[in-house]
Amino acid sequence: MSSASFTPRVFSGIQPSGDLHLGNYLGALKRFADAQNQGIEAVYCMVDMHAITVWQNPEDLRRSTRELCAGFIASGIDPEKSILINQSQVPEHAQLAWVFNCVARIGWMNRMTQFKDKAGKNAEKASLGLYAYPSLMAADILVYHATHVPVGEDQKQHLELTRDIAAKFNHDYGVDFFPITEPVIEGTATRVMSLRDGSKKMSKSDPSDMSRINMTDDADTIAKKIRKAKTDPEPLPDTVDALKDRPEARNLVNIYAALDNCTQADVLATYGGKQFGTFKPALADLAVARMSPITQEMARLMDDPAEIDRILALGAVRAREITTPILRQTYDIIGMVGPAV
Ligand code: TYM
Repeated sequence: MSSASFTPRVFSGIQPSGDLHLGNYLGALKRFADAQNQGIEAVYCMVDMHAITVWQNPEDLRRSTRELCAGFIASGIDPEKSILINQSQVPEHAQLAWVFNCVARIGWMNRMTQFKDKAGKNAEKASLGLYAYPSLMAADILVYHATHVPVGEDQKQHLELTRDIAAKFNHDYGVDFFPITEPVIEGTATRVMSLRDGSKKMSKSDPSDMSRINMTDDADTIAKKIRKAKTDPEPLPDTVDALKDRPEARNLVNIYAALDNCTQADVLATYGGKQFGTFKPALADLAVARMSPITQEMARLMDDPAEIDRILALGAVRAREITTPILRQTYDIIGMVGPAV
């Protein structure tokens, strides 16, 4: 059983918690926008129910959800072509997640590195939701029978779990109902690293704001963060191979390549042998040229929150045309009494 017999459909989600950063843009949003004209139906989700697995101030959550929606649109995702939703307006996500809580095994959850990282030493005090998070994530994807999930590398383990849940459900009930989803982790920016430490991923939870470029940063801030980014003293090498043991240099080259839609080799063809004193200003100019129009468009969209709410409400109606029958069929397979399918 695979995803081959299912109509291709893309699903991906982003948490509306804190600011969007360059890792979210290059690892997710930009790739969604680039893939938009492939003619495959796509659903993109602001996962507000995932966000509350750790404390969220209600006003901040509301604002971050709208800002994330603005971020999707400003990055080039057209809400007419793709379906844009916030998770809580499509209740079938949570309903299917309960079913999956009964399919997934505790041993599987115990292996999830993201839970270990987020719960830290005090796992007893973590919310039950944080522990069950990957089961809701599997439901997000499978309630659409999504076949392809574009994400950054950090989500790989959760997508493997999604496949395990689909396979166990299909096996336990003797059906070929849920697709075995393909993770799509492609391109030069599937793991954008911190600007302060090339061994850590760029993340909204890093206490240092200098470690990341936020999608709301102005041009001067972007340029300053790149100028101050940690590097080694050597000039850039001529070959991609020589970047292997230079995580900070590799990260900046990867960011350049992703922003400019070219390869690492293309970047090195121009900047190989040059010092960071030359490369960093070029990267800053490129980042500002690419990010500033998006930042400005986000701000413009945020001036009209009612329009954003309207887009999300419409998205939910379209989404539920897909999710309602899939949940109903799931319940029927399980043996829950309800309307005939
Ligand atoms: P989240 O909100 O942490 O991140 C959203 C997307 O951005 C990618 N990303 C990165 N890519 C490259 N470099 C980085 N430094 C970087 N940081 C983040 C993530 O890989 C992701 O693609 N659990 C998910 C949200 C989710 C989801 C889903 C995703 C919920 N349900 C179903 C796909 C399908 C998360 O917390 O992503």
